[in-house]
Amino acid sequence: MSFRTTPSVDYVEDVSPGSGALPPRAWYASSDARSLSLNGSWRFRLSATAGAEDDSFADEGYDAGNWAEVTVPGHWVLQGDGAFGSPIYTNHLYPFPVDPPYVPTENPTGDHLRVFDLPSDWPSDGGAVLRFDGVESCARVWLNGTELGEFKGSRLAHEFAVGELLKPGVNVLAVRVHQWSAGSYLEDQDQWWLPGIFRDVTLLHRPAGSVADFFVHASYDHTTGEGTLRVDSDVDGRVLVPALDIDVATGEPVTVAVEPWTAETPKLYDGVLATDGERVPLRIGFRTVVLEDGLVKVNGTAVLFKGVNRHEWHPERGRALDLETMREDVLLMKRHNLNAVRTSHYPPHPAFLDLCDEYGLWVIDECDLETHGFTEQDWRDNPVDDDRWTPALLDRAARMVERDKNHPSIVFWSLGNEAGTGRGLTAMAEWIHGRDPERLVHYEGDWNCRDTDVYSRMYAFHDEVEKIGQQLDGGTHRRRELPFIQCEYAHAMGNGPGGLADYQELFEKYDRLQGGFIWEWIDHGVKHAELGYAYGGDFGEELHDGNFVCDGLVFPDRTPSPGLIEYKKVIEPVHIEGDGANGIVRITNKQDFADLSALAFEWSCQVDGETVESGSLSVPALAPGGSAEVKLPEPPVDGRGGERQWTVRALLAGDTLWAAKDHVVAWGQFAVGARPLPSFPATDRPALDDGRITLGPARFDARTGALLSIGGVEVGATPRLDVWRAPTDNDDGAEWQTDTRYGVLWRTLGLHRMRHRLVSVEAGDDALTVRSRVAPAAREVGLDTVYRWTSDGERLRLSVSVTPEGDWTVPLPRLGVRFGLPEADRVEWFGGGPGEAYPDSKAASMIGRWQSTVDRLQTPYVRPQENGARADVRWVELGGLRIEGDPEFWFTARRWTTEQLDAARHRSDLAAGDTVWVNLDHGLHGIGSQSCGPGPLPQYFLKAEPVEFSFVFSTTR
Ligand code: GAL
Repeated sequence: MSFRTTPSVDYVEDVSPGSGALPPRAWYASSDARSLSLNGSWRFRLSATAGAEDDSFADEGYDAGNWAEVTVPGHWVLQGDGAFGSPIYTNHLYPFPVDPPYVPTENPTGDHLRVFDLPSDWPSDGGAVLRFDGVESCARVWLNGTELGEFKGSRLAHEFAVGELLKPGVNVLAVRVHQWSAGSYLEDQDQWWLPGIFRDVTLLHRPAGSVADFFVHASYDHTTGEGTLRVDSDVDGRVLVPALDIDVATGEPVTVAVEPWTAETPKLYDGVLATDGERVPLRIGFRTVVLEDGLVKVNGTAVLFKGVNRHEWHPERGRALDLETMREDVLLMKRHNLNAVRTSHYPPHPAFLDLCDEYGLWVIDECDLETHGFTEQDWRDNPVDDDRWTPALLDRAARMVERDKNHPSIVFWSLGNEAGTGRGLTAMAEWIHGRDPERLVHYEGDWNCRDTDVYSRMYAFHDEVEKIGQQLDGGTHRRRELPFIQCEYAHAMGNGPGGLADYQELFEKYDRLQGGFIWEWIDHGVKHAELGYAYGGDFGEELHDGNFVCDGLVFPDRTPSPGLIEYKKVIEPVHIEGDGANGIVRITNKQDFADLSALAFEWSCQVDGETVESGSLSVPALAPGGSAEVKLPEPPVDGRGGERQWTVRALLAGDTLWAAKDHVVAWGQFAVGARPLPSFPATDRPALDDGRITLGPARFDARTGALLSIGGVEVGATPRLDVWRAPTDNDDGAEWQTDTRYGVLWRTLGLHRMRHRLVSVEAGDDALTVRSRVAPAAREVGLDTVYRWTSDGERLRLSVSVTPEGDWTVPLPRLGVRFGLPEADRVEWFGGGPGEAYPDSKAASMIGRWQSTVDRLQTPYVRPQENGARADVRWVELGGLRIEGDPEFWFTARRWTTEQLDAARHRSDLAAGDTVWVNLDHGLHGIGSQSCGPGPLPQYFLKAEPVEFSFVFSTTR
């Protein structure tokens, strides 16, 4: 005889989607049916295993008085100061043995209890539904002691009929949540594993005769300007759209003249679906999405997607996002010229989609499905190719489509991410195509496009993208007929991405290339008392992927990173280019739908970076794709012969939903003439006196040739050749990219420990010349370096010439000089700004006069790395010095050395020392996005080759 001693938790490892839940349906907030939010503080008990506790906590009268509390929506691992476990970050590895559908016995299980009062005026007619908008990863639910069922599918809504069970007065809702379940095998997205009831829990009254499910079909015929509306509803009723004089029965089509919905012109019509029992607000956007002539067209026009991948993230609350945070994402996207979002890699909170409808963003809505970890075993046992799992896959597809089908912003349904290929995916695609033929299907893993309506790839390099644009990429017959998007590209990890402008050029050049979605929106840093922001490994995970989780265009607190500023410039909706010498500016409307009537233009003219004149520019309201040349006024005459340049800006002509009047959407700059280089007669002669050499305002150590001071400014460390930078995530590259990971190759070569051998110090007639050889231990390669100092009596000029010796097989990280100043805070410069720039990420660097402080020059990448360079600097002033470049240079200053920056893992490891370290660089190596994609393109390589460059120093005190 045998008997079982543990309670049955078989449902946890059951591949089925669950039992007891209602069929999926449209998600909406009723105008008049009552609802009760069950968000708030819940009683909470954590167990180490799924079966540790019996079900008695679900019984009425159970005393949970000694339980802890958690906030719902929320993840328990982010609450309780570590008492409830901690987050785990893995990219694609399952943090448990791959043994589908089984999960570890150690399966953190959170019992949640919520006692609530049913309001006394809660209607007694009809029924009620209990809705969970998101629970990770498996939940079993009881109301007043009766089990309702269990479900999986973390980022999908699940509803239960509870009308019969509700009681007047006190009700008890019990939810048991297991961190791991069979569903976890389908949710292997690159993100933190965060169990909990992380989205809303709501009780909905369902009056008799209320809407069950409905489907708004609102198409637009661009040839007639008419829209056709038909609202299908399970329960008959009427559809009212007052602004269009529409009053029709459900199921009946009606065609009227309308303004279409596009992401650029998100016109929504308010309507109502009225049934006997309920009024449902509708927000109707008329648009038609088709695949035609091998292109994705909306309302007859091909769209260029300027998108981003958005995970839901908040540094303290994880994936439990409030409405304001969602709105902040949308506002930031709109203000930075983005027009599209892929909801990687699961359907977002539905309120986010409402915002996309309202503010205007094209959406790829992606299903909650990823099985990436199976790649470790060549995709053997992959659930998407195993019929036993197909019901779960179809359930997920249906829960996405049914919930979100009434959003005009959604143009693609995505089957999921990185799940290999298989019959289950095909079944999903077939079901979706059948249920919603009015949208297209996306899935990146399907390179043959068997199931999809677009050829989608991630991180394809520029040259391959170009081939695809030219239709030279081959592929199946089906694929050759499809447009191309990069559902992920330009990995925004750490400093970068570089190479964005080069991608955009390709997207704009070839029709077949319909744009892409940057990976990704936000760094998933977890707020941490000591570390600032934590990433993988900071919670002692046994398997983790470090800071690969911090790869967004905005920092964890949503401050835009330089990558976002760069992207905004690269995708600006208006192109402004000029012929400065002839005073002509060419304006091109790069939008797909809107003319330029929402924008105003202004010109300004700068002399040496300072605006001396400005005015408005009259530009015709060009149609999409149109361009015009506009004459600028005569440039101001500058008696001093300074550098003159035009700046032309496109601004919002009035307030919009997403930004106020005068918000800058695009700009262009062009020179009136070339920059006059500093002239410098070398008139002074070095003089030796008591171990010191004096040359103009400067003093040097006669033995070493080290610069000691200029005028009254002490130089803490003499300018020396510097080639090292703290490798960026993109320099280090992803593990799988073996031959071009220069961050690694540089270190192997020893560029982080260069030695300086002094060859000679020679005081000549008009110059002090210091020769040295700069090279790493154990290698024969080196850089022959000559520092030539001259003076005109007041100023000091340093000319550096560098001659590489030996066989340099790698580019240099940087090439310039580094020196130290004992004091410096305020910084002013004339050059590129206001933010950082690198050779392949400098589109947004605007030439002007900028001010900052040493601290504010730093870009706070979550994992410290090279950052903060300013491009095209003509001169900079700091610490009592003025430094002019011949030619322009890259400027960086920080309160720690590059070596300290390199050693730091978190920003909290960086402590300001008593020296400000200044780098004046002649060149920097490009950035690229090799942390997942391509490295810098060849034109952004900093090759080791002979060069000469100069700086002129003077004092400002
Ligand atoms: C992709 C994946 C994303 C993310 C990215 C790298 O392969 O789809 O989820 O992991 O790489 O950050």
